Amino acid sequence: MTALRPDDLKQYSDVLRAKNGSTVNVRFVEPRDREELQNYIRSLSSRSRYNRFLGAMSELPKAELERFIHVGEADRFTVVATMTLDGFETIVGEARYAFHADTSSVEFGLSIDDRWQGYGIGKALLKNLECRAASFGAERIFGDTLRSNESMIGLARKSGYAFTSNFDDWKLVRFVKEIHVEPQDIPCASWRLAAASRMAAMSSLAV
Ligand SMILES: CC(C)(COP(=O)(O)OP(=O)(O)OC[C@H]1O[C@@H](n2cnc3c(N)ncnc32)[C@H](O)[C@@H]1OP(=O)(O)O)[C@@H](O)C(=O)NCCC(=O)NCCS
Repeated sequence: MTALRPDDLKQYSDVLRAKNGSTVNVRFVEPRDREELQNYIRSLSSRSRYNRFLGAMSELPKAELERFIHVGEADRFTVVATMTLDGFETIVGEARYAFHADTSSVEFGLSIDDRWQGYGIGKALLKNLECRAASFGAERIFGDTLRSNESMIGLARKSGYAFTSNFDDWKLVRFVKEIHVEPQDIPCASWRLAAASRMAAMSSLAV
């Protein structure tokens, strides 16, 4: 079980940098983002949506959108990457991740707005997801992608992931990275703190 409480989620917001120096904020999705998140998914190219959801879809089905919005349920989380464009906070990426306590792993999927792909945002967001995974005490982080998805495979390779087959589906390749980082060494301040409070909660349970 994670130590993140729904009331605390707003405090976990991270600032990333795109290659061109632009600031990208990463925060948990909120109910007020429902419509913008759906518009973001609709605005992706059909190829990006296909790659993200491993099949054709024009938007998130209603039930899936609700699951995306309800952060923390069943240890599943959605974050949005936003930039201030023309004075408005605009979603330029999203990621969903799940902590599997039984296998001590975090599984994720992510996407970046087509107009912002190639700016290093995917790479920075992936590093951020690794911090989040480490804060749960996960030992590995992984995702599945289509064998034809060169950008995700390129990103995973560049980020030090190893590749294995997905035995359930030959069209997919699984990319996995072992996480060997002590809580105090997590390279994202907010997730270092989250790990520390999780450790403190665990030790208080032990007494
Ligand atoms: C995959 C995706 C998230 C990458 O995000 P991005 O912000 O464009 O990637 P970055 O700019 O951070 O690229 C980081 C590295 O990934 C690799 N990469 C990115 N795009 C690539 C491409 N089209 N071909 C090969 N490698 C690529 C490169 O090694 C790159 O490093 P470099 O710029 O130093 O060469 C983005 O293309 C995307 O949203 N695709 C659609 C959704 C998707 O496929 N999701 C994955 C499902 S799990």
